[in-house]
Amino acid sequence: MRAVTKSKHQAVGVDIGGTGVKAALVDVRTGELLSDRVKLPTPEGGEPDAIRDAVVELVDRLEAPEGTPIGVTFPAIVRHGRTMSAANVSKAWIGLEAERLFEQALGRDIHFVNDADAAGFAEDHYGAAKDAAGLVIMTTLGTGIGGAFIYNGVLIPNAELGHLEIDGHDAESRASNRAREREELSWEAWAERLQRYYTHLEFLFSPDLFVVGGGVSKSSELFLPLLTLDTPIVPAKLRNNAGIIGAAALARGV
Ligand code: BGC
Repeated sequence: MRAVTKSKHQAVGVDIGGTGVKAALVDVRTGELLSDRVKLPTPEGGEPDAIRDAVVELVDRLEAPEGTPIGVTFPAIVRHGRTMSAANVSKAWIGLEAERLFEQALGRDIHFVNDADAAGFAEDHYGAAKDAAGLVIMTTLGTGIGGAFIYNGVLIPNAELGHLEIDGHDAESRASNRAREREELSWEAWAERLQRYYTHLEFLFSPDLFVVGGGVSKSSELFLPLLTLDTPIVPAKLRNNAGIIGAAALARGV
């Protein structure tokens, strides 16, 4: 799996999620993966040391050329290298200098970013929102709901759109893909919740485009056509690789 040529267009992306940690080597000119995607389940409990070890193992497995930049995503608010929340991982991450934790373990600098921000950046540069102008709102429907604002190509970080309070509930507790699975909702029943959610986002932010990511976006034809919105809403193109690709692109300073 070793990439033999060192290129200034390559970077490693690592995407830490509530259920899995994934990584690959990326060509940041095209957003294509240059290696297999390597993956480990997110360690039980989502504790910092266990997740750190999983990241180190995956980066080692990729055998990227020395000096290749590394971008790492995390499913929480990321401010100046610290994780400031922990919705679907251990509370031990709150306030932790997480960027430093990974840098010390990997022995080099990394670029550290919220997972949905990385995915949104990738979709905006290489995917479903490539030619979009104005405000693009990316939402990832997974364990939680991630949000990203990209305005004319510029990422505005840490839009915690999964935690809007709607009808007295944390939005992701009702409308995430995990909520659909947990409550065994039909696509129609879930779409009603999504309709409420996206109507609220539309009212608050007047976006020009919604992009819907997360693993469930591969079944988008089963629920997106059930929504009635003024804003165009499209499935993510990069699917489960968006976080990896965005992290790599941000690490390379695309
Ligand atoms: C977290 C976000 C994250 C999203 C998707 C939410 O619960 O608060 O930071 O982007 O889940 O993983």
